Amino acid sequence: MKPTDTDPPPDDKADAPEGAPEATAEATTDPALIARRQLLAKMCVGLGVASGAALGVPMVGFVVGPLLKKPPSDESRWKPVLQAFYWCEPLGAKGGGDFNWRTEPDAPPPRIINVDTLAIGETVPVKFDDVSVLPWAGVTGLTAAWLRRVSATEFIAYSVNCAHLGCPVQWRPQAQLFLCPCHGGVYYADGTVAAGPPPHPLTRYPVRVRANLVEIAAQPLPIG
Ligand code: FES
Repeated sequence: MKPTDTDPPPDDKADAPEGAPEATAEATTDPALIARRQLLAKMCVGLGVASGAALGVPMVGFVVGPLLKKPPSDESRWKPVLQAFYWCEPLGAKGGGDFNWRTEPDAPPPRIINVDTLAIGETVPVKFDDVSVLPWAGVTGLTAAWLRRVSATEFIAYSVNCAHLGCPVQWRPQAQLFLCPCHGGVYYADGTVAAGPPPHPLTRYPVRVRANLVEIAAQPLPIG
């Protein structure tokens, strides 16, 4: 039926879906809703800043930290050494043969090496703190060397790490050779290369005797 001039105007509100324009207009002016939205927006920004800081600060520290770190003093590089029996024992030790693998708990406890601990000519595995050890590093901060007493007061220390790819070399006293188990590298008793792929001799550590104790100067090792 066609609308006439006497019909009342159509009621737009009656046809509008529930909750549309009018309800939205009311909602956007509701102070409680606006305050809640602002709070949520601030929380989002805050969480974004916190996440960015949590990721970014360690990365910046990782890059900048080494630049600010002071190199260890010359004196702090010198470390006392412990004879590590858990690795191997020298010729004539319990069990016979020239090389006796030992693991805890049947190994004797490590002992600090002083000037008279070793016989002249004896070569033993020793352990000591690495050059840049951190206070919480524990046993992971230890490194190792082969220590030889060459005279009453003179010692030589060779890195245990093969100059090829870093495998631990083993001292064979009967053959007077260091052998690398990984790729057949062989070194003479003075650490020079006898055979195999090692490109250069075993690295030597400076050794000194101070207050009757044998000390090794820890240092980074060139490998390969
Ligand atoms: S790591 Fe020693 S020969 Fe390769």
